[in-house]
Amino acid sequence: MPNVMVWVDRLEKSYGSIIALDSISFSVAAGRIFGLLGPNGAGKTTAIKILTTLARPDAGTAEIAGIDVLRDPVKVRGLIGYVPQELTVDPYLTAREHLRYYGDLYHLSATLREARMRELLSLVGLIGHEDRRVRTFSGGMKKKLDLACGLLHRPPLILLDEPSLGLDVRGRHDVWSYILHLKDQGATVLLCTNYMDEAERLCDEVAIIDRGRIAAIGTPAALKSELKRDVISVELSASNDHHGEKLAALEQAVSKLGMVRAIAKDGTQLKIYVESNEMALPQILQSAAALTVPIQAITYSRPSLDEVFLHHTGHSFAERNEPRG
Ligand SMILES: Nc1ncnc2c1ncn2[C@@H]1O[C@H](COP(=O)(O)OP(=O)(O)OP(=O)(O)O)[C@@H](O)[C@H]1O
Ligand SMILES: [Mg+2]
Repeated sequence: MPNVMVWVDRLEKSYGSIIALDSISFSVAAGRIFGLLGPNGAGKTTAIKILTTLARPDAGTAEIAGIDVLRDPVKVRGLIGYVPQELTVDPYLTAREHLRYYGDLYHLSATLREARMRELLSLVGLIGHEDRRVRTFSGGMKKKLDLACGLLHRPPLILLDEPSLGLDVRGRHDVWSYILHLKDQGATVLLCTNYMDEAERLCDEVAIIDRGRIAAIGTPAALKSELKRDVISVELSASNDHHGEKLAALEQAVSKLGMVRAIAKDGTQLKIYVESNEMALPQILQSAAALTVPIQAITYSRPSLDEVFLHHTGHSFAERNEPRG
């Protein structure tokens, strides 16, 4: 398959009695951003470590661009850029010294190295800080330098383990636009994340992982719409004398529509539970117009990825994310 950058088939890994990966399978098409979304201890880092050839699976297969990670680890390493979850920067080196060091590790010529260094420092917002020692950097600056170091050689596949961990809102947005920029440049990105909003904002496709198993895979939009739990709320104007009757009439008309699953009346509001907002909204508006219902506002919402997680795993993300003693 020419367009597959990452192919993982029934990977298993245990540490003593702890099953970190319990037969996971997924694939990532070239040029996409794929997210492993799961709570603490789900097995995300373990999966990434196998793909980066830093850990051996107990069973299963993993390939990067068709190359088996166990059979040809050296070739695989040449195709990937990896930024681990823990910071790897050295407090006593400057940003420039880090990038020069990595440039040498990747065998870049001095000219290429200097050019890429300037580009990366500007992309991650560290221009002007090149010659400061990293111990004087904030946590966010260290993370951004780490990201730059892992990508100096422009690998086709980038593996990012919790890329925005510990960053403030501004820093997260910087990192997100940087990741989107990498995709624009043609890279494939596999990232692990603990954050629903990060998965939602960045990922073309998400695998929800929990206790070493993949519970669901799909685009964030598909995962949410599969639950068929969209809600449309119609708010009537309370100043209209007939709002009570109109609300009852609308409720009756809407209850006859095919895609409506349930309806709840609450004061001047009708909450309509439907399989899909897109499908139901025009018909609900049509019914309201035919009945001259005095509408003040209409809002609609989709379930969150949190609800997707709950649906597929039987427990909430937050509950699983609690530190375990
Ligand atoms: N070297 C190791 N020795 C023993 N157990 C390990 C080791 N590495 C991971 N584990 C265990 O394997 C399981 C999966 O860990 P992993 O680091 O892959 O989770 P994660 O999804 O990356 O979690 P987090 O969001 O906290 O980074 C956990 O129960 C963890 O304790
Ligand atoms: Mg991890």
